[in-house]
Amino acid sequence: MADKLKFTIDGVEVQAEHGQTILDAADAAGIYIPRLCAHPDLKPIGSCRICTVVVNGRPQAACVQPAAEGMVVENDTPEMLEHRRNLIDMMFVEGNHFCMFCEKSGNCELQAMAYRFGITAPQYPSQFPDKDVDASHPDVMMDYNRCILCTRCVRASQELDGKNVFQSIGRGFGRKIGVNGRQALGDTDLNVDDRAADPTICPVGCIIKKRVGFEVPIGERKFDHEPIGSEIEKG
Ligand code: FES
Repeated sequence: MADKLKFTIDGVEVQAEHGQTILDAADAAGIYIPRLCAHPDLKPIGSCRICTVVVNGRPQAACVQPAAEGMVVENDTPEMLEHRRNLIDMMFVEGNHFCMFCEKSGNCELQAMAYRFGITAPQYPSQFPDKDVDASHPDVMMDYNRCILCTRCVRASQELDGKNVFQSIGRGFGRKIGVNGRQALGDTDLNVDDRAADPTICPVGCIIKKRVGFEVPIGERKFDHEPIGSEIEKG
């Protein structure tokens, strides 16, 4: 068996280790495949479908699909752009995302993705769902209006913190993130230093640390000057 296998992404030859996902091989080759639920420190679950690519003519989630010798992957095509735009649009209207008031603005992966895809206003009607804000924890708050159900907090708590603070509960439109406290986040064993509370885990402004808001001013934040994915494209 050859050490590495070869395949193409949009006609560019890419090498991958055996067992490596398409997403990881693309990252290593400096090709950005958009993603939201995937995180380099967490096991991928293929839930948001933003990373969908066409593999040998069939749609597959790049974050969970292993690379294979000779596969032909289409990533940066008008069809995939349209698919991703639709998903991002739906995430915006299914929550209450008021970027101009959000502490995560400029560091938010959802907002940055929308900018990268040229979305300035959603094409679907806003649902304006009735969501809670949980400020019961002394150091961390949760604004469910902004949650996109990526479950990165669920996996970080389990895989990195060895806890079980967050869970995905319910199904369909009623699905939401629950906490393992009797009533609210303040009843859980979440510590402010847990990875699950780290701002790089929640891609949006749902899990926010208290008393550090706007520590980095608007204009100096991660995506204020460079689009999301540019760090991968720069290699
Ligand atoms: S990043 Fe692959 S499904 Fe979410």
